[in-house]
Amino acid sequence: MKVLVLGGRGMLGKDLVPFLSAKHQVFVRDIDDFNITDLERVQNEIETLSPQVVINAAAYTDVDGCESNPGMAFSVNAEGARNVALGCAANKARMIHLSTDYVFDGSSLSPYREEDPPNPLNVYGLSKLQGEHYIQKIIQNHLIIRTQWLFGRHGKNFVDTILKLAERQEEIRIVNDQKGSPTFTIDLSWAIGGLLEKEATGILHVTNAGACTWYEFARQILQERNPAKRKVQLTPISSTELSRPAKRPANSVLDCHRFENLMGQKMRPWKESLKEYLAGKEDGK
Ligand SMILES: NC(=O)c1ccc[n+]([C@@H]2O[C@H](COP(=O)([O-])OP(=O)(O)OC[C@H]3O[C@@H](n4cnc5c(N)ncnc54)[C@H](OP(=O)(O)O)[C@@H]3O)[C@@H](O)[C@H]2O)c1
Repeated sequence: MKVLVLGGRGMLGKDLVPFLSAKHQVFVRDIDDFNITDLERVQNEIETLSPQVVINAAAYTDVDGCESNPGMAFSVNAEGARNVALGCAANKARMIHLSTDYVFDGSSLSPYREEDPPNPLNVYGLSKLQGEHYIQKIIQNHLIIRTQWLFGRHGKNFVDTILKLAERQEEIRIVNDQKGSPTFTIDLSWAIGGLLEKEATGILHVTNAGACTWYEFARQILQERNPAKRKVQLTPISSTELSRPAKRPANSVLDCHRFENLMGQKMRPWKESLKEYLAGKEDGK
């Protein structure tokens, strides 16, 4: 299959591209050579390359930054997604788009299903939801994959942040009132590879199995690996104590049953993936 990956040099893109390249002819574009906010460029490029599938992993992902720069958030996450949808529709390409758990407000007591009503709490979530709406309106042959709490070798992520803090701080204060499912970019790449072979359309929730709070995630990271072998005090705190610019949902765990039924299997538990990620760091991978 001819596949065009946008945002191919981001955290997910850098794992996704080699994974797909083993089986498909993959073209990679990112902001330096291909800005998704430029409609004419998007349309020309898709027409020239003529891919069967376009995977849009390009986004403005700085959640707090989106609060102070909503213009940029909507330009990339909403209008950018619309441009890609228009390019795909005009060239009969399937569009696979990455979206987020932050489209939900987190007030649900159970995991969110695809059809649950979204209600974003922050600009990032609003801009990503607007992107979803554009895609649904413009192109029938689309798959929107909502995922969350990504960690991977090629980007700034929570695991590395905790390991760094553990090297220089006696105490780390971590929020314990937001719950989600940490998701390894290698596993998400596997899922996207599998979904390329399926005819699914609409929205799909895809994360690693299991859920935790950020505090529990940090505790697991330090249980698995404490590079300086130091005693670090982990202190659970509330989101209000941390006071970040963007509000985050309390419970944004995603129900992945639709994905599991489609693929005939679950994603592996996040703790297993974390172990592999940390082992890879020791090997220098
Ligand atoms: N990270 C998470 O925890 C998370 C959670 C839920 C959903 N997602 C979604 O998953 C997807 C991949 O996330 P990620 O963590 O891999 O993000 P990432 O590391 O920030 O990668 C996104 C890539 O898109 C590029 N980009 C930004 N603006 C662009 C533009 N106008 N045109 C073309 N490319 C542009 C970025 O370049 P620069 O780096 O130079 O800006 C970056 O290379 C995104 O759709 C994101 O919304 C991520």
